[in-house]
Amino acid sequence: MIEIKELGKSFGERVAVDCLSLKIREGEFFALLGSNGAGKTTTIKMMSGLQTPTSGDIKISGESIFSNLQEAKQMMNLSPQETAVAPNLSVKENLEFTAKIYGRDKKEAASRAIEMMEKFGLTDRSKTKAKTLSGGLQRRLSIAMAMITKPRIVFLDEPTLGLDVRARRDLWNILLGLKGKMTIILTTHYLEDVETLADRVGIMHNGKLCALGTTNELKEEYQKHSLEEVFLYVTEDLEVFV
Ligand SMILES: Nc1ncnc2c1ncn2[C@@H]1O[C@H](COP(=O)(O)OP(=O)(O)O)[C@@H](O)[C@H]1O
Ligand SMILES: [Mg+2]
Repeated sequence: MIEIKELGKSFGERVAVDCLSLKIREGEFFALLGSNGAGKTTTIKMMSGLQTPTSGDIKISGESIFSNLQEAKQMMNLSPQETAVAPNLSVKENLEFTAKIYGRDKKEAASRAIEMMEKFGLTDRSKTKAKTLSGGLQRRLSIAMAMITKPRIVFLDEPTLGLDVRARRDLWNILLGLKGKMTIILTTHYLEDVETLADRVGIMHNGKLCALGTTNELKEEYQKHSLEEVFLYVTEDLEVFV
């Protein structure tokens, strides 16, 4: 359903994403893994139409997203790595604002905001300004904002970054409830969570996709007992610095 073909992105001399090809199925829960600087955020930004590739293409249902970016953007949404909530707006206002940007009228924006607050356990914070929420609740709000447009594809860039154990667990449980209802593409460093949740994982290293499959397939392929061992193996730098 999403087909990435020989995707590349350079910033001057720096190659952030290098000839990445990948297919993601409709309804799949896909985890994109990799060390800091591997190129995950850049890949996700290109997939969601926020950054233009230097080379290659991204197709959804056979059509390049860049041939009609506005239309493509209507079916996707992104919760960025740096949580982007409007600090001085309340929880409800943040949600309504997002729905309106995506062309929903006032009434529908309000009813969807209520629906999302229920789904994400934010109802009792409806009138709370976003800036006074805990980090965990801000993250939850950011993801609720990405979901309010009922996207077919949602991108979550490190959704559990900086959360304490309980907030992280709560968020994973919410994501588990959404699994299968839409295509979810996320990046994270929490490999144990990925092992139980993701349908498939892709591991990036220096801008390249260096491993792809279900956790079990990867463990078998590399003869390792855990995803973490696979990760450490495929992302090991063999260059010797002199
Ligand atoms: N706007 C930018 N300008 C210059 N270099 C960038 C920019 N965005 C990302 N990079 C570089 O591209 C590489 C990949 O970054 P990124 O996609 O953010 O990786 P990840 O999300 O896996 O940590 C890094 O080396 C980063 O410094
Ligand atoms: Mg990143």
